Amino acid sequence: MTDSSGIDPELVERARDRFTQAFGAEPSPKIAVAPGRVNLIGEHTDYNDGFVLPMAIGRSIVLVFRPRGDRALRGCSVAYDETKELDLDALAPPGGSDWLSYVAGVAWAFATEGLVVPGLDVVVDGDVPLGAGLSSSAALEMATARALADAAALEWDPVRMARLGQKAENQYVGMNCGIMDQFASAVSRAGHALLLDCRSLDTRPVPLPEEAAVVVMDTGARRSLAGSAYNDRRAACERVVAHLRGLDPGVRALRDVTLELLEDAKDDLDPTDLMRARHVVPENARPVHMADALQVGRLEQAGRLMNDSHSSLRDLYEVSCEELDLITDIARGQASCFGARMTGAGFGGCAVALVKAAETGPFCDAVLSAYEEKIDLPAALYPCRPMAGARLLD
Ligand code: GLA
Repeated sequence: MTDSSGIDPELVERARDRFTQAFGAEPSPKIAVAPGRVNLIGEHTDYNDGFVLPMAIGRSIVLVFRPRGDRALRGCSVAYDETKELDLDALAPPGGSDWLSYVAGVAWAFATEGLVVPGLDVVVDGDVPLGAGLSSSAALEMATARALADAAALEWDPVRMARLGQKAENQYVGMNCGIMDQFASAVSRAGHALLLDCRSLDTRPVPLPEEAAVVVMDTGARRSLAGSAYNDRRAACERVVAHLRGLDPGVRALRDVTLELLEDAKDDLDPTDLMRARHVVPENARPVHMADALQVGRLEQAGRLMNDSHSSLRDLYEVSCEELDLITDIARGQASCFGARMTGAGFGGCAVALVKAAETGPFCDAVLSAYEEKIDLPAALYPCRPMAGARLLD
């Protein structure tokens, strides 16, 4: 059970106990938490300088921490049941991509901005499913940033911290992600999704109507090709931009491209690159439309936008998979569902549905049993309310 802040008290107790076992009880450690996220719409638009509409969910990374007098970073992961140690003065990219590298990467990113962080003992725990596309790594980065900011007596600046988290992931861990996940984990407000302009970093909190529920649908599928396919998609977008900039010097990213400009240039573009851009350009407009629809309670319209987004990701961006297509189809087949789509990078992981709040329980039961009849994977459905971003627990 989670409390209204979205943190499971038993999880916090478990993490604290583990800290005592690993590093001793005194002086008393502090606890930083940061949520995972689900993106409602605007997929593969963040690295095209476009719009996204994520919300933080009630599943978090919990980081129990205590500064040390030396330069060691000692970490213990509950999920991986291991303890490791690094020297903060010896951190240099490229680091690894194991769990402690996300913590170390943020410490490294702090140092690149002249922010001095002390050595630290940390325990990493949480209930964000790993590798499911709910941004457990961004949550770990933002929980780390919250802890490091506290240990270094820095004022908490969530936007700066999201940028540092992205820098850690791009340069230290080596995953070329956009800003969305770290931003959602650091900046989100309870009760609201966050419309984010990934170019200006302007945000608009969008209240989720009481009569709507967001349901995360984990297909149970995990695919390791996601990293290389992600980078291929980014490269395709960059090639289209490079070509279109020759026609219009004002084009800095696909954000600046209209469908007209794209269609005028279609004969000179690689057909696959053209398909990718034909997803991104209309997808960029959808988060603003969906935010407007949610704001005035037009849930059918919001649902249609989600369905359109999924078709485009499946047919043009080609990042869906059999399991995501199946679970979204089953979800849409329920009378209580306004719309459904894959969420996150794709190739497995989670989809998201917008559902009548009063019918969430029967919706989840029906979707899970119909999915499990066809696919033998550990699927799970989570109804979610929008939660607040990274913070320290009292
Ligand atoms: C991953 C990345 C994000 C974003 C999504 C796709 O979650 O980390 O930056 O690009 O994929 O929308």
